[in-house]
Amino acid sequence: MSYQRPKGTADILPGQSELWQQVETIARTVLERYRYREVRTPLFESREVFTRSSGETSDIVTKEMYDFADKGDRMMALRPEGTAGVVRAYVENKLFGPEFAKPYKVYYMGSMFRYERPQSGRQREFHQIGVEAFGSNSPALDAEVIALAEDLLTAMGAKSLKVAINSLGDPESRAAYHQALIDYLTPFKDELSHDSQVRLTKNPLRVLDSKDKHDQEIVANAPKILDYLTPVAKAHFDTVKALLEALGLTYEVDPDMVRGLDYYNHTIFEVMSNDPVFGGGYTTILGGGRYNGLVEELGGPETPGVGFAMGVERLMLLMQGQEVAGDLPVYIVTISEDATVAAAQLAHAIRLQGFAVDLDYMGRKPKAQFKSANKENAKLVMTLGESELEAGTVSVKNMATGAQESINQADIVNDFKAVFAQLTEAE
Ligand code: HAM
Repeated sequence: MSYQRPKGTADILPGQSELWQQVETIARTVLERYRYREVRTPLFESREVFTRSSGETSDIVTKEMYDFADKGDRMMALRPEGTAGVVRAYVENKLFGPEFAKPYKVYYMGSMFRYERPQSGRQREFHQIGVEAFGSNSPALDAEVIALAEDLLTAMGAKSLKVAINSLGDPESRAAYHQALIDYLTPFKDELSHDSQVRLTKNPLRVLDSKDKHDQEIVANAPKILDYLTPVAKAHFDTVKALLEALGLTYEVDPDMVRGLDYYNHTIFEVMSNDPVFGGGYTTILGGGRYNGLVEELGGPETPGVGFAMGVERLMLLMQGQEVAGDLPVYIVTISEDATVAAAQLAHAIRLQGFAVDLDYMGRKPKAQFKSANKENAKLVMTLGESELEAGTVSVKNMATGAQESINQADIVNDFKAVFAQLTEAE
């Protein structure tokens, strides 16, 4: 019997996981500068948390959700995205309370699950790094969140990025636009794909997001949401744009962008890349926007919100070729078979003092052990032969300079930090 990982999932192996760790470290550093703090929510939630937030007509809910009844017959779903769970946690833990500073800013990193057709940069289990900020309706926060998105991607070394923004307006703008779309699309009803016919009655905005070619041709001439913004919604969007300009951020307004989730209003945005790894055309690396009303939808008080999520696999495609070379402070080579105990004791003592050490467990000859040390980029190679064992010393070679010295084992056990500094300071 041979087993394979489920379609659309990946094993992140040593050699790759270092790059993941690097991405996570950079992300935490950048996010801290904007005062976001980490939140960790469950990988699964009641199914309704997602249907109420993403919307019953979104592809995520209708086609892509990993949902199931648990043994107590409760409908559950693996999280297809992070926002809904974070909003649920915000409400359940009463983070709207006056004791919490506003905006309440959180970030998360982790697996999301969508039953999609796997391809490069599209998986069934994938990872997002996302942020959510609650409690402020200021367009300055929208601009800050977009600036953070670009900052984050740039800090990872991503290039050839494009920031696209649009506004979906407030409920009043949406209602006017809703009607205009129905008026425009209804004469084409019979030509629309089956899915879009259903969307037309349930949520016409979703037709704009159709992946069907003919639907897209029809939609190309549809009225644009920006022409239906109320003065308040327009002022919000104009301020966001002015702030982005003031921050020196380049963006494009894409009046056709709607995003695939139902909870958005006002500012929405995507950061895309046309790097050749994506095989021509623009691929969205990161998407987000404002979702005033979602907290109420999940049972909380009226609270505005804004955020985004970045797809880590897509970011990784952009970072391909960036290798993280690991260094090893110490490798211990055992020449004499009797050295096993002394080598284990030294390795243990050095590790307890905070340094990484490796040594041989495969019974290799000294020459092969030296090869392993080179492969691991060891800074210092210690050798333990019979004469060292007798003298209670160890022979240490600095691999960069070639300098070799005999050091007392007791000195290593007592203060390896000092020994390490002494042996490497000449570099
Ligand atoms: P989303 O646009 O659905 O937004 O996903 C955000 C990003 O996740 C995408 O731009 C993409 O990079 C990545 N992504 C999505 N699906 C897949 C997949 N199947 N495989 C690989 N990567 C994928 C959201 O999820 C919102 N929750 C973002 C948000 C946060 N809005 C406000 N706050």
